[in-house]
Amino acid sequence: MSLMIVYLTISCNNPFSVTGGKPETLQSVSSFPVGVAVSENLLKNNAAYRNVVLKEYSSITPENAGKIERLHPLENVFDFSDLDTIVNFALKNKIRIHGTTLIWHEFSGLEWVQNFQGDSVAWENMFKNHIQTVVKYYKGKVTSWDVVNEPFHEDGTLRMEEGARGDNPGSIWARHLGKDYIARAFQYAHEADPDALLFLNDFDLQYAKFQKKIDAVVNLAKDFKKRGIPIHGLGMQMHIGISASNEEIASGMRQLAATGLLVHISEISILVSDWKRDTSLVFTDELKKRQSDKYHFIAGAYKKSVPPGQRYGITLWGVSDANSWIMPMFKLRDWPLIFDSLYRKKPAYTGFLNGLKQ
Ligand code: XIL
Repeated sequence: MSLMIVYLTISCNNPFSVTGGKPETLQSVSSFPVGVAVSENLLKNNAAYRNVVLKEYSSITPENAGKIERLHPLENVFDFSDLDTIVNFALKNKIRIHGTTLIWHEFSGLEWVQNFQGDSVAWENMFKNHIQTVVKYYKGKVTSWDVVNEPFHEDGTLRMEEGARGDNPGSIWARHLGKDYIARAFQYAHEADPDALLFLNDFDLQYAKFQKKIDAVVNLAKDFKKRGIPIHGLGMQMHIGISASNEEIASGMRQLAATGLLVHISEISILVSDWKRDTSLVFTDELKKRQSDKYHFIAGAYKKSVPPGQRYGITLWGVSDANSWIMPMFKLRDWPLIFDSLYRKKPAYTGFLNGLKQ
């Protein structure tokens, strides 16, 4: 009897207990794909990074290698080498690949699009050629694409003119191609690979104060379904502060799920700083616990809010705190991911894993 109690106590704390001899990982406990955004250089050159990806994740998104400035650096030059590195790694290891992003209003250092001269027909051909060349090249390899990324302003209007909403950027694509460019992007992508799952991806879809933006995404999905435009899923990015409201997160998920489309939580980072610049911020045990609770909540809320057949997965935006885009981009002191900068599991990892197991 006492031996049995000892055995039970050990087995409850034992990471080898639940999955029959194998340690639990995010992918082993999850009923839907768990993904991560990756860099081709780190996959090639950093064994600790690569091992975490191989062990924990069943889906990957190229963090930057699928963006136009990398794939299509000059008008007549496509360069698939970086994305190929990621795609070949994923295919070899049987990991799903979600491509991002065919069309986005942001692209850095890509002068040829900004300087492109031509009438509306020339613009349309250039746009179609970009989408179809990329999608055809990866046909049968890349399972899904963010076809258009971040097309809406916070007030639900379509990005178009520069500076129309404060300093919120407009979209060169909307200006040259007209309001319905999103629908045509989906049609062109679908023609190029009828089996690819096609997503619209956007941010801030978990805040009640941006309800009009959530409405815009939901209405676009409804309109596309009515018109027979091939759209299969919606991506909710979720770069959020540690104090983001649980109720609002769940409400955003429910509203996207109500469209009947797949729902991808496509880019998670949970900012301990709550987006505030504080160079003396200390990552205390209390903050570690709050971050862990938030990761736990998101995994559970996804399962409660999104029906099983619509769960495309949850993707974290980076492997470890050493790789997050948040700190360099926003000059913040932070620790937004679930592995620390030495690739050790943080409390957030355990919170997320337990949320997936719920
Ligand atoms: C970010 C990358 O993480 C950075 O490395 C890059 O400098 C800029 O883009 N929304 C998106 C992602 O859809 O593609 C962005 O990725 C983060 C915000």
